[in-house]
Amino acid sequence: GERPRVLSGIQPTAGSFHLGNYLGAVRQWVALQESCDAFYMVVDLHAITVPQDPAALRESTRLAAAQLLGAGLDPARCTLFVQSHVPEHAQLAWVLNCLTGFGEASRMTQFKDKSAKQGAEGTTVGLFTYPVLQAADILVYHADQVPVGEDQRQHVELTRDLAERFNGRYGPTFTVPGAYILKDAARIYDLQDPSVKMSKSASSPKGIVWLMDEPAASAKKFRSAVTDTGGEIRWDPEAKPGVSNLLAIHAALSGVTVADVEAKYAGQSMYGPLKTELAELFAEWVAPFRARTLEFLADTAELDRLLAAGAAKARETAAATLAEVYDRVGF
Ligand code: ADP
Ligand code: NA
Repeated sequence: GERPRVLSGIQPTAGSFHLGNYLGAVRQWVALQESCDAFYMVVDLHAITVPQDPAALRESTRLAAAQLLGAGLDPARCTLFVQSHVPEHAQLAWVLNCLTGFGEASRMTQFKDKSAKQGAEGTTVGLFTYPVLQAADILVYHADQVPVGEDQRQHVELTRDLAERFNGRYGPTFTVPGAYILKDAARIYDLQDPSVKMSKSASSPKGIVWLMDEPAASAKKFRSAVTDTGGEIRWDPEAKPGVSNLLAIHAALSGVTVADVEAKYAGQSMYGPLKTELAELFAEWVAPFRARTLEFLADTAELDRLLAAGAAKARETAAATLAEVYDRVGF
């Protein structure tokens, strides 16, 4: 087709996605399914690079898929599947592992961060080769573009290097993908500590907004968001990170610009009304999202059927790529 092919994945998360995941990734995936030939997956193979409880993993994988559908991904407009349902990812990853230098993999900064968190004994070889599996995820579909956050840029670079290396050694096989870095404006910060991004691993319980939480609990978090001792509602991420974060979330949820929100509150000297309006905006937005997600979760058989159909569609491409790769390698 003429439309660029994009590929993106998201980890299954216990409980639900948070607002940063939605505004920084999922929402943009929904938009891209219209203009692109989009492949989206729940990356359960990546999830087991750190310890997982099997029943919890199965549940959070379904929950992730239900939320993607609830957010508006449409299986008629994109290919939505679970990574482990398509065995070609792991099969291609092995071939790519054998093309990746140990030193090259050792330079991945995400591995350094994540392994530091796990400790030497807790760090698996799977965590080490995670970026190679990611390269396989992308290359197996001949993706042209990879919508990722800035923190993933290095992994896309590795993917490009591996594609070029394979093509150079075995003949032209892979599309060399470009990174499509998602807008920085979509970066959402912790409501209690706006110097760090909202993150499932780093945020305090009151600083993170879970999409599937009771809306009243989230409203409370918005109302108690940390701001500053001034009262001026102005976009200034350096001097006023808390207020700027609230403005960014407001703009993103209401579909207007940050300047529009600033203008609305010009001359005000208190943060309360902005927080209250934001809590209401969020509640209004999240209600239908939650309802749709719960509907998909209520019919597990139908959800599994949708995911099986997505995997079958994905495999049409993945199996063809793997067959060509195996042939070129000499299998
Ligand atoms: P976390 O940082 O909570 O562990 P992940 O790393 O699983 O989240 O991120 C999944 C997706 O959500 C990625 O595409 C990532 O760029 C995006 N994302 C995560 N946190 C934020 C945030 N605070 N603001 C914007 N996007 C985010
Ligand atoms: Na992260």
